[in-house]
Amino acid sequence: MQLKDKVVFITGGAQGFGRGVAEAVLKKGAKVCLADVKRDQGEATAKELQAASGADHVFFVKCDVTNVAGFEDAFKAAVSKFGHVDVMCNNAGILDERIWEKQLEINFTAVVRGTMMALNHMRKDKGGRGGVIINTASMAAMVPTYWFPVYGGCKSAVYHFTSSWAQNPEMKAAEVRLVTICPTGAKTALLDLDDDQIIQPADFIEDTVFCTVDQVVSAFLMAMEDDTINGTALTVRAKEGVEKMKLSMVPVD
Ligand SMILES: NC(=O)c1ccc[n+]([C@@H]2O[C@H](COP(=O)([O-])OP(=O)(O)OC[C@H]3O[C@@H](n4cnc5c(N)ncnc54)[C@H](O)[C@@H]3O)[C@@H](O)[C@H]2O)c1
Repeated sequence: MQLKDKVVFITGGAQGFGRGVAEAVLKKGAKVCLADVKRDQGEATAKELQAASGADHVFFVKCDVTNVAGFEDAFKAAVSKFGHVDVMCNNAGILDERIWEKQLEINFTAVVRGTMMALNHMRKDKGGRGGVIINTASMAAMVPTYWFPVYGGCKSAVYHFTSSWAQNPEMKAAEVRLVTICPTGAKTALLDLDDDQIIQPADFIEDTVFCTVDQVVSAFLMAMEDDTINGTALTVRAKEGVEKMKLSMVPVD
């Protein structure tokens, strides 16, 4: 997909990976809706991006992805402003084992909801224009660790769900591709961890070889721009960079 004039909807777009993706696609001439539960941060980010890309190219909508009506309204706001959505990034996420049910809601249930919402909107066989759905999982989806069992479980579910939909034979006529992004740790606000937020955070920080936000953004761009990618997880690691993962292959560091 060529990104010029395409519309990209990003949950968790106020900061971190979401912001990085927004900046990158705006530079390529796309239009962006940033959806996030953090109003102040989201508005500030939208303002900065508008200054660089033009006021009409990007806007912020406050949205808690666990609020069904709120999430639907945010998506409708993007459709109403730009006419349609071509790329859906279900990217909002938290890492906090203390509130594991909330992790499930944000990191998995809302990803399912956002995927189904985008799919219904995009399917060419049902009147849409086709598109790409990109769901942010994690390397934790592929490699079980003791630091965050529920987070890893959510991310594993995101990968399984996304790749399962991509295999659906109807997706050919629908002209919708589905891709999972699986980064290793990256130094965003997600990793500003309290002591009891995950199990033994000091070990996690010490044992992780961090990738950069730019590397993660390049995986998103690859998922959008390379029309041959469907059903694959794109892994992002510091040394190896972005790689396509085959369904049967588990990479190890
Ligand atoms: N940073 C990492 O090490 C890492 C590694 C692998 C995967 N991920 C995943 O990448 C995604 C983005 O994370 P990030 O690293 O940019 O972290 P981040 O904390 O910088 O950004 C996450 C964004 O999601 C938003 N969000 C949280 N709950 C929300 C809700 N209920 N509704 C709407 N928005 C909500 C936050 O407000 C925040 O802006 C997440 O899904 C995360 O799990 C992060």
